[in-house]
Amino acid sequence: MEEILSLKKSFLKESKSARSLAELQQLRVKYLGKKGLVTSKLKTLSTISPELRPACGRAVNEVKRYITEELRKRETLLKEEEHKRLVLSEAIDITLPGKFTPFGREHPVNKVLSEIIGIFVSMGFEVEEGPEVELDYYNFEALNMPKDHPARDMQDTFYISEDVVLRTHTSPVQIRVMERRRPPLKIIAPGKVYRCDADISHTPMFHQVEGFMVDTDVAFSDLKGVLESFIHSFFNVETPVRFRPSFFPFTEPSAEVDIGCTFCSGKGCRVCKNTGWLEILGAGMINPRVFEMVGYDVDLYTGFAFGMGVERLAMLKYSIDDIRLFFENDMRFLRQF
Ligand code: PHE
Repeated sequence: MEEILSLKKSFLKESKSARSLAELQQLRVKYLGKKGLVTSKLKTLSTISPELRPACGRAVNEVKRYITEELRKRETLLKEEEHKRLVLSEAIDITLPGKFTPFGREHPVNKVLSEIIGIFVSMGFEVEEGPEVELDYYNFEALNMPKDHPARDMQDTFYISEDVVLRTHTSPVQIRVMERRRPPLKIIAPGKVYRCDADISHTPMFHQVEGFMVDTDVAFSDLKGVLESFIHSFFNVETPVRFRPSFFPFTEPSAEVDIGCTFCSGKGCRVCKNTGWLEILGAGMINPRVFEMVGYDVDLYTGFAFGMGVERLAMLKYSIDDIRLFFENDMRFLRQF
């Protein structure tokens, strides 16, 4: 009897310290298994005297029931604890702020560029492109700027080699297109250009849109009409436009086009140096020397050409006073467009 009772005690102690289902299983085997402590006690019952046997039998069975029931309770408890641990470890804190994925947006230069292209396309111009690494021939020579000619000083150039440059303007696209195609032509050529120049209004890379039209009777008045329509559409129908005589080797006559200062509405300010006018582009009638270079009949064809700086137009439209802001990638600036 004592042995039976001490079995119960030792089980109680051991079961309290069992921390896992595996440990419980070990206990089950130790006490209730085929060779377990309780099982072997049951087997020894037959060796006990018949008077004591029923009481001992009851006691062993009672301990067996007790241990079985205890194991069951402990098992339920451990399973519950394990479940709680699992739930806690897998829990998601839905009060945490989500991970923010910033959205990109169109760069102001690209935005203005698309707007410019859109206006000219609506007037029937086609878009053509040319290489940014350009032959000296297309960038200068074919545009009536021979080697060592002082006219080249107008553009500070990045030379790759004697004959290859980073294009300093989009005008070489005129030559490439005219070599390939015959008039009538109404073309714009947007793209990046490079000049060895950097200050508050110049960056070594910037964007231009070239435009030109060639046909049998293109006149200066066509140039004026096209550019005035463009300016009124890009800025404002009321924006004053002025053509001022100028010089480019590849146009004759040449002009620079000014608009009424967008900062002071023509009253005179620091930006327009008190003139009330701002220069926005160069233009002119295509020089017959250029037509000769591409083999066009100079008695048959006339044409106009113009070139504008995209950053400059963007600065005027949005009142930006430093061109470098476009390329610093400061999100506070870029988000405003
Ligand atoms: N290519 C000239 C420049 O970059 C602009 C221009 C283009 C002038 C076409 C006249 C005609 O300064």
